[in-house]
Amino acid sequence: MIRRSALVIVLLIAAVSVVSWPAEAAPPGRPEPADAAETTGGTININTADVKELMRLEGVGRRVAEKIVEYREHHGLFQKPEEIRWLFELVRAARPRVVLEIGLDCGGTFFLWSRAAAPDAHLLAIDTKPVGRFGIWSPLSLVRRGFAVGSQRVTLLMDNDSHSETTRQRIAALLDGRAVDFLFVHGDHSCEGVWQDFKTYSPFVAPGGFMAFHDISQNPAERTKGVAQFWREFTVEHETEERVVNDEPGFGIGVYRVPGSRSQASSSLV
Ligand SMILES: C[S@@+](CC[C@H](N)C(=O)[O-])C[C@H]1O[C@@H](n2cnc3c(N)ncnc32)[C@H](O)[C@@H]1O
Repeated sequence: MIRRSALVIVLLIAAVSVVSWPAEAAPPGRPEPADAAETTGGTININTADVKELMRLEGVGRRVAEKIVEYREHHGLFQKPEEIRWLFELVRAARPRVVLEIGLDCGGTFFLWSRAAAPDAHLLAIDTKPVGRFGIWSPLSLVRRGFAVGSQRVTLLMDNDSHSETTRQRIAALLDGRAVDFLFVHGDHSCEGVWQDFKTYSPFVAPGGFMAFHDISQNPAERTKGVAQFWREFTVEHETEERVVNDEPGFGIGVYRVPGSRSQASSSLV
């Protein structure tokens, strides 16, 4: 649920498509958005509100409301604000100088990391999706690179499978010995796939740095069962933190901090 006063943040998040699923991968069994919004004490749930309810938000007319609903129906539900805000605050507190995201898609979470990272941060992202018809000049690519603020640098490895050795080598070359301060894993949702991302990219993460995994909820949607399984196995041997709002299947964010202090982070890795 969101407060009306948080409209700007929520719409920003919505506008940059902080979604959990690409349209073609919408999990079977996902609950359809309810006809009526769940409103409590002046809050509106962006995942369930209908057009009429959304129009009650200041600054939202019919056109924007319809676009929000259309987007939600096409791509799946938006992030749960409580979970994503929690992670956003952790990242902001860490002020990472090197961020790596696996699973860029439309760039919803990537946008958030750009706002939470240091002004001179290098932000890298990997996705199997192609960059677009006009290559690095395709609109989405330009928009995502436009996320950079200050002297931040954005590097997108589109059309790259995080599991391929070539991609790993590209990341190693781009980092050029610098360590990753924050790694976000939101790509392949199979248990083996997440394990592989962990094993491949965790060696790049600095001591004192941290990584986050999306969709760890033990009340999983069909397509998040793999991540839930990964998390069960992972938490046996790792000390973790998590934020899971279990009001509907899926979602949930887990965090693992790499032991050590950040002062060690400037040393070469991998
Ligand atoms: C749930 S979406 C990511 C959403 C994104 N973080 C956001 O907030 O908009 C998952 C993305 O991971 C990508 N993906 C799946 N398997 C991958 C892999 N092995 N390597 C790189 N990207 C992958 C998909 O193409 C998809 O765009």
